[in-house]
Amino acid sequence: MPYTSHPELYDLEYSFKDYAGEAATLERIVRARNPDAKSLLDVACGTGKHLEHLQATFTCEGTDIDEGLLGIARRRVPDVPVRQADMRDFDLGRQFDVITCLFSAIGFVGSLDGLAASARTFARHLTPGGLALVEPWLTPDAWVLNRPHLLTYEEPELVLARATVSGLRNERISTTEMHYLVATPAGVEHFVEHHELYLFTNDEMRRAFEDAGLGVDYDSTGLIGRGLWICSR
Ligand SMILES: C[S@@+](CC[C@H](N)C(=O)[O-])C[C@H]1O[C@@H](n2cnc3c(N)ncnc32)[C@H](O)[C@@H]1O
Repeated sequence: MPYTSHPELYDLEYSFKDYAGEAATLERIVRARNPDAKSLLDVACGTGKHLEHLQATFTCEGTDIDEGLLGIARRRVPDVPVRQADMRDFDLGRQFDVITCLFSAIGFVGSLDGLAASARTFARHLTPGGLALVEPWLTPDAWVLNRPHLLTYEEPELVLARATVSGLRNERISTTEMHYLVATPAGVEHFVEHHELYLFTNDEMRRAFEDAGLGVDYDSTGLIGRGLWICSR
């Protein structure tokens, strides 16, 4: 299943995000721990908006599961190799000084086994002394059930509204039914996307990285207030 049926809307939907500022923060975190880091792999890179900025400092590659988003990334960062790969199980045959996995993409791995497998993938692809920076999804106690939320975006010839209500499939799987209305001169389209993200506890995150052989630090603020796991090989 692709992440989205409308990849062309992703950057509009998240146009409020400060990718340049986040990339600068990531660079500071990396330099403080590994001043000589040169190569970086962005796992679940989406449309390549972090790579766009990180490529100025690091020799970058990217992976994502969604070909539609990768097509946009290829146009945005033509000099950065990006390829389709599921973070739970890929082998690029090389290692990187830095791996990033951002904006809660780790929540999409579906289970504790998926988290453990992803942590092993990250560890396998890190050089000795390398760093994996993983921005988590919410913990079970932070998920507020049945909360309505509205996101809007406007430009002269396109307006978008996304209305959601938070749900649960079971006590550990958060669900979001996302109803989109997209109006252009051609008319108004309505479609629905369904996302499920696993709610890992901090202990589960820490254990998965430790079991993969990584040293683990946790920054409770991180890039956007969701925290950041800083794991070193
Ligand atoms: C919220 S988006 C974040 C994208 C990008 N990192 C950003 O900051 O804009 C989540 C991303 O995770 C990707 N994804 C979901 N499951 C994945 C998996 N198992 N392996 C790799 N990528 C995955 C989706 O395709 C999507 O690009």
